[in-house]
Amino acid sequence: MQPNYTYYKNIIAEQSYPLALVDMDLLDQNIQLLQEQAQGLPIRIASKSVRCRYLLDYIKNKLEYYTGLMTYHGEEALWLAEESEDHILMGYPIVDEALLIKIGTANSNEKNIVLMIDDAQHIQQLERLGQTFGFKFKVCVDIDLSVDFGPLHFGVWRSPLVNIEKLEVFLNTLEQAKHIQLEGLMGYEAQIAGVGDQVKSQKVKSTLIRLLKRRSLPKIHQWRAEAVQKIRDKGHSLVFVNGGGTGSILQTKKERDITEVAVGSGFYSPHLFDYYEDFQLNPAAFFAVQIVRQAKPGVFTCHGGGYLSSGGMDKFRLPKIHLLPGAKMDINEGAGEVQTPIFYTGSEKLNLGDPIFFRHSKAGELCERFNKLYLIRKGKIIKSVKTYRGEQKCFL
Ligand SMILES: Cc1ncc(COP(=O)(O)O)c(C=O)c1O
Repeated sequence: MQPNYTYYKNIIAEQSYPLALVDMDLLDQNIQLLQEQAQGLPIRIASKSVRCRYLLDYIKNKLEYYTGLMTYHGEEALWLAEESEDHILMGYPIVDEALLIKIGTANSNEKNIVLMIDDAQHIQQLERLGQTFGFKFKVCVDIDLSVDFGPLHFGVWRSPLVNIEKLEVFLNTLEQAKHIQLEGLMGYEAQIAGVGDQVKSQKVKSTLIRLLKRRSLPKIHQWRAEAVQKIRDKGHSLVFVNGGGTGSILQTKKERDITEVAVGSGFYSPHLFDYYEDFQLNPAAFFAVQIVRQAKPGVFTCHGGGYLSSGGMDKFRLPKIHLLPGAKMDINEGAGEVQTPIFYTGSEKLNLGDPIFFRHSKAGELCERFNKLYLIRKGKIIKSVKTYRGEQKCFL
């Protein structure tokens, strides 16, 4: 049966609200679709977009070509490394000294955590700690792949390594470091991977974004190829070259030097990933809140619902009502801290006690609101599994 409102309503009939769900049938389809896009290029799972150990393992075991995890916090990397042999790439730099010492110690004990760096200060700090404690840190260098069109900065603000000259200076500094080993190169083309380009309500903006994406791609490809060459010329043998994210697999995989693509959001497919021209995934993760009052005919108010996401300052931070055509949120109240009114003109007979389903706009952030995820398969809850939060872990 095609999952619809009644399908999920029946499945959760016995449960308490609010609750978060993952439809495993749809998750399986997403894993398959993402693998098809990657066409044999190994996938590194971006853990921030999953935030549930059970599902990280599940996805990993389903992937035919899996290369490791990309973690978002050093404590998280250490925690995951306790029980796994995986290659762990920290997706972002760490400058917390105590944490770096813990990671150096873990790596001395056979763990495999690669740090992200992009600044001479990162090199100096790691080299000092390496000298003091006898560590050899493994690192990945992050180059900036944003593209400027006049005053418009198309991309994110992260790495200062914006061109070959800056990379060269950085590599010269690295040459002096005896306690650091360069293993990888990462370039995250955020403006391709994380920016929707087919938003129905923003036709003109979407057309412009598609144009900018097209014009960025050759520059991204060229810069990444130059960076790889420069690093090799300096005598480093790169073990991996990481790129991309859910929204850019099709483009990233075309690059000759890329050895893996990072993917996270696409597994749950939150609603921000509905707005891409060249792929479509299934809404596998979502949450349900309960209607607890009816302000007047056609207005149903739910308990909870205000689970907003990080990101740009716009309406896309709100959750999106799922599977209930004819339902919309109130522009003034939006998704409320404890009460969320819904205006409804559809054909479902809604009552107090019934659920309203929503999708979060981001993937892993949903898990910061819930201790567990109910896993659904073939019309039934098959089990519930702990999120990071449910394991008393809050990393950011
Ligand atoms: C460094 C890096 N790589 C890859 C990704 C892609 O992750 P996702 O597939 O969850 O969008 C992100 C997301 O923000 C990122 O920061």
